[in-house]
Amino acid sequence: MKGMKKGLAQYGDAGFSLFLRKAFIKAMGYSDDALDRPIIGITDTYSAYNACHRNVPELIDAIKRGVMLAGGLPIEFPIISIHEAFSHPTSMFLRNLMAIAAEEMVRAQPMDAVVMIGGCDKTVPALLMAAASADVPAILTVTGPMITGSHKGERLGACTDCRRLWGKHRAGAIDAAEIDEINEQLAPGPGTCMVMGTASTMALCAEAMGMMLPGGACIPAVHADRLRHAEATGARAVAMAKEDLRPSRIMTPPALNNALRVLQAIGGSTNGLVHLAAVAGRLGIDIDYAAFDRMGVETPVLVDLKPSGQHYMEDLHKAGGLGPILREIRDQLDLDCLTVTGGTLGSTIPPVATWQQDVVRTAANPIHKGGGLRMLYGNLAPNGAVIKQAAATQRLLKHTGRAVVFESLADLAARIDSPDLDVTADDVLVLKNAGPKGAPGMPEAGYLPIPKKLAAAGVTDMVRISDARMSGTAFGTIVLHVSPECAAGGPLALVRNGDRISLDVAAGKIELHVDEAELVRRRRDWAPPAHPERGYYKLYFDEVLQAEYGCDFDFLRKVPLGKSGNREASGT
Ligand code: FES
Repeated sequence: MKGMKKGLAQYGDAGFSLFLRKAFIKAMGYSDDALDRPIIGITDTYSAYNACHRNVPELIDAIKRGVMLAGGLPIEFPIISIHEAFSHPTSMFLRNLMAIAAEEMVRAQPMDAVVMIGGCDKTVPALLMAAASADVPAILTVTGPMITGSHKGERLGACTDCRRLWGKHRAGAIDAAEIDEINEQLAPGPGTCMVMGTASTMALCAEAMGMMLPGGACIPAVHADRLRHAEATGARAVAMAKEDLRPSRIMTPPALNNALRVLQAIGGSTNGLVHLAAVAGRLGIDIDYAAFDRMGVETPVLVDLKPSGQHYMEDLHKAGGLGPILREIRDQLDLDCLTVTGGTLGSTIPPVATWQQDVVRTAANPIHKGGGLRMLYGNLAPNGAVIKQAAATQRLLKHTGRAVVFESLADLAARIDSPDLDVTADDVLVLKNAGPKGAPGMPEAGYLPIPKKLAAAGVTDMVRISDARMSGTAFGTIVLHVSPECAAGGPLALVRNGDRISLDVAAGKIELHVDEAELVRRRRDWAPPAHPERGYYKLYFDEVLQAEYGCDFDFLRKVPLGKSGNREASGT
């Protein structure tokens, strides 16, 4: 451990650099005894814009207590905070910026280990990406899920019920006064969305990957267990500093596979796949999508949470959290993976069920026998697309329909509710130019609303296809992450109204029934989007990769694709 001597600012005289550093840190009131202890950085991801991180200050207090009880010196420092609803144009546009900020501040400042506080959707991925790249001993904790709200006796949760009830409002079944009442109940306190959305998915995947102390993913934000977990995390960080237990020893290929397996078993968010691909890229690993697809067939969906089930995260915490999930799929996991505990993943799994619960099913009695997420390929998505079949309508999983095309998000907003829109329930809604470069930021726009006139007639689901992402809290027969995206010249850019499109999830196929000569003619008419001129947008546009590489910036990968020659092949 180097403590305050680590990473000195360069003044040409190392002795003077340390002298100066100590002079300034002593202005904070620290004694020499304190400064000689292992130094544990704590990422302060609080923001008054970010309700999902509202409890970060009290988590920091608990983490500091744990660090000091274990003989370390805690020092918190700010990292930018990202909330889904306060990030224009979309939070995904900023995830890599947060990852850069976290990586560089962890590397720049003296710390022997770091406690990272994630929560809202993009924060856990950004912090894991940063941890992978900085490779300083790191341990993650999360703010935890919100508790549920209620309306007229019905439990409500963000954001599955936000979408469901807004859909009813659009269809005229809920009036303006009632939707305002509901608005106050959907997010009734601090913490992250309490369904199996991206925040819950990534917290569970991070725990499965070994980056969080056992049990941490599901503890509600307001529960006292959350503070005890934070205290234990702080104490453990001191030990990790002494052991020099780095992320590169924990986030190994088998650990990543464990996380992907858990992503399937929990019926997790499609966003989880993008984020894990980005983390993998930081470690020099490329996701084996064929293997991931096989996992989708083999792995039972066990967790009965909204949006595809009925319970909420506080119920999963009461049911034992990740432990019983791991127990049910333990034969499919690499149990020897090292975790932040210093022991193996296998040693964290409860051996037997000790009480009855119905939130985590047994492998013998799953929600779905297999197939949380499936990969799709075909002439419409040469580099892949994904569907969350557990949240889809079964009869639509094999479907051919006429394309109804929206050229952009603005076009969608302008025409989706038009009484003149030529659309039937058997059509396939196609949204273009909503991918990583196109929107920009690959917004969660893949959950195209059902056209108002069809919604009013009782239609609740249609096949929808785009190069966008979708909130993990959403549901429907929705094909996402089509790659290459429109803005990179992918075939999706060539689809026109009236084309026939076939979806066959069991076969893993997505096909556009237009002959090749016609596609060549259409491609001559296609023009790439204008290139941004300045700032972060320019950096983003120049460097962002497609969904299969996690939408990371190429130069942040351990092995940039530009060097390996794969970048062209990926359509970027
Ligand atoms: Fe933060 Fe849903 S908006 S987790």
